[in-house]
Amino acid sequence: MTHPKSALAEKPSETKPQAIIDLRSDTVTKPTPEMRRAMAEAEVGDDVYGEDPTINKLEQRAAEIFAREAAIFVPTGTMGNQIAIRIHTQPGQEIICEERAHIFNWEMASLASFSGCMVRPVRSGNGTGVITWDEIKKAIAPKIYYAAQTGLIVLENSHNMAGGAVTPLETTQEICANAKAAGLPVHLDGARVFNAAVALGKSVAEITAPLDSVMFCLSKGLGAPVGSLLVGSKKFIERARVYRKALGGGMRQAGILAAAGLIALEKMPSRLHEDHANAKFLADGVAQLPGIKLDASRVQTNIVIFEVTKPGVAAPDVTRKLAEKNVLASAIGPSHVRFVTHMDVDRAACARALDAMRAIFAN
Ligand SMILES: Cc1ncc(COP(=O)(O)O)c(C=O)c1O
Repeated sequence: MTHPKSALAEKPSETKPQAIIDLRSDTVTKPTPEMRRAMAEAEVGDDVYGEDPTINKLEQRAAEIFAREAAIFVPTGTMGNQIAIRIHTQPGQEIICEERAHIFNWEMASLASFSGCMVRPVRSGNGTGVITWDEIKKAIAPKIYYAAQTGLIVLENSHNMAGGAVTPLETTQEICANAKAAGLPVHLDGARVFNAAVALGKSVAEITAPLDSVMFCLSKGLGAPVGSLLVGSKKFIERARVYRKALGGGMRQAGILAAAGLIALEKMPSRLHEDHANAKFLADGVAQLPGIKLDASRVQTNIVIFEVTKPGVAAPDVTRKLAEKNVLASAIGPSHVRFVTHMDVDRAACARALDAMRAIFAN
């Protein structure tokens, strides 16, 4: 992804500078004043010894909210996913996931270097990014000793690079039931699982119940500065502690991070519908513009990805022109642009971003 910061530096000085509207990702949010206060006042201890009371509280609350036996705090979503992959697989195995999945495209091939696995990517037939059991089963290796065996299925809900697409609960249930019958574990990259739950009108516990393990991020739509959690069985989380340490993720007085994380976990899910409404507003407006391909009806959460079809204009040209108007977006490859709404952009900011898009695409 191209993050057009350099264009900002070149911006001509204005008499009345407008605030920057940062729609590159929901990871750009700043901690709220309440989070900062809680961080300053957090009770802490050494978490490698299991003695940080705020970390322990966060892990306990995460386990309760997801109706699981246990949870572990990790610094990043990537580490959470990679620990889960390491636990579920053996070196030399294949992992099935959708072809645009984060674990495949944006985690530095760690599943190869840390777990010794390869990806068997699956294309979702209808282009939504939501893969079905019928598609997955075709990718499962035949049970013959001279074929690399399938070790794990990983789903992503909501699916970042598929425009925040949401997997319906019935689809998750069908995949997990069949995977179980085939002896395959299913892990969820739920970096934005709270967004998915809001879109489905169900709790995160309900929509993740059939999965063997779930990683979710506090540092995306929930607005915490740092942190993710991995939830699962007690035995699974005990093993996760070993691999977290192996990866250098054993942090000491990490309660200062968990303090912000607790606020994110308890208070922020109830406001995610605002981000979804803002994304829909943006999508509806952008879809009207000439030189753009976007099916706004597919926008279900806080991510809008559209294709630039205007001849001679590439996605990085669009993000550069937007940056000149103080609107930041991500170019995904040569032809796609991504907007992500979050708690630090309100409707007025989205309206300004839309005006900038109109100015660029009007002629
Ligand atoms: C779907 C998904 N999974 C995992 C991650 C990794 O999270 P982190 O950046 O905390 O490693 C991201 C980050 O954007 C993501 O979008």
